[in-house]
Amino acid sequence: MRKSLVGLLAVAMVVVAAVQADDDVPFTDEDLESEESMWKLYERWYGVYHGSSSSDGLADMVSRFEVFKENARYVNEANKKKGMTYKLGLNKFSDMTMEEFTAKYTGGRPGPVAGAKTWTTCTASERPAAANDWCVPSSWDWREHGVVTHVKDQRNCGSCWAFGAVGAVESINAIRTGKLLNLSEQQVLDCSGGGNCSGGYPYTALQYARDTGITTDANYPYTARKQPCTFDPRKMRPIVKISGIYRVPYGDEETLKQAVYFYGPVAGALIEASKDFVHYREGVFRGSCGTSINHEVLVVGYGKIPHGPRYWIVKNSWNTTWGEKGYIRMVRDIDFEEGICGIATYALFPAGIFTSTATAAAY
Ligand SMILES: *[C@@H]1O[C@H](CO)[C@@H](O)[C@H](O)[C@H]1NC(C)=O
Ligand SMILES: *[C@@H]1O[C@H](CO)[C@@H](O)[C@H](O)[C@H]1NC(C)=O
Ligand SMILES: *[C@@H]1O[C@H](CO)[C@@H](O)[C@H](O)[C@H]1NC(C)=O
Repeated sequence: MRKSLVGLLAVAMVVVAAVQADDDVPFTDEDLESEESMWKLYERWYGVYHGSSSSDGLADMVSRFEVFKENARYVNEANKKKGMTYKLGLNKFSDMTMEEFTAKYTGGRPGPVAGAKTWTTCTASERPAAANDWCVPSSWDWREHGVVTHVKDQRNCGSCWAFGAVGAVESINAIRTGKLLNLSEQQVLDCSGGGNCSGGYPYTALQYARDTGITTDANYPYTARKQPCTFDPRKMRPIVKISGIYRVPYGDEETLKQAVYFYGPVAGALIEASKDFVHYREGVFRGSCGTSINHEVLVVGYGKIPHGPRYWIVKNSWNTTWGEKGYIRMVRDIDFEEGICGIATYALFPAGIFTSTATAAAY
């Protein structure tokens, strides 16, 4: 008993500065002590993520109880580790095995990227004229500039590749035209040929944004299912077309930072598939990552904790209930050139806007 209290205090101290989100399901060692207490915790969690535990949900609950218990224990143990700069929590994925999770919620694939121009450093000739040589701020967050849309939810569909790419297009459009629009991931899913709900290629999605253009989400709403393409450029406006696609050189976190600052949010492929990533709650993530499954996200900025780690600010597409209101901060400038979870391996971003027919009258 004394031992678990000490453990509890240690956890309490680590998270003392944490702001508790509405959707958080806090728990202590005591909740994990017995089957009964564990079931009570499970009911509390179920109430938050599935509504009240009705009788028709009971069979479903019972069948997933073992998985939930395992995940709750995993989160609890991980949060007790010394020197953690981040915290895990129970979230909407906490009754799923990693196999179920990766089948349903990931789906980014790195290649092909042939044809993407490599953007090298801020001294490259393509850099915007306003950029100062080598001089990028030590922290930058595009959310503070009103050019990042709300956190979306890919739901039960491995369409992250479309969300990452569309997020980059939304932001460059907002940066260059002053209009922040919710653009259509569904159009990209249905029409780009880049993939389906089992995964796809962000580069193909960006090529589609360059060659055809993307309409608004209101015109072509998200359904989380791949359907026959119904995009009709004569009926669906406004359309945003990007002018080209750049790629950050493999394993170059410094250039990734400069690209984020000079151009805007960058779509990055992550190798995640780890329990730590899935159950991330808050803080600067430096957990382990898998090696096989890829997930596409959007790097919207970077920063540094005073006397602490540097980090990337990363927008995910798993709803605001995941992580820090839908975002994750991931450690930056690590010893592996690929970056945390491979964030600096296949980073792509739009070179600019070719046309944006968004006007107040058009939508
Ligand atoms: C996030 O999840 C909640 C609860 O399931 C849902 O009502 C909401 O629409 C989701 N948010 C987005 C952006 O889809
Ligand atoms: C995008 O859609 C969301 C949810 O429908 C809405 O809350 C938000 O205001 C929209 N953003 C823009 C820029 O239109
Ligand atoms: C998704 O695309 C992959 C690769 O083209 C294909 O093998 C798979 O059968 C597709 N899945 C569905 C559900 O259509």
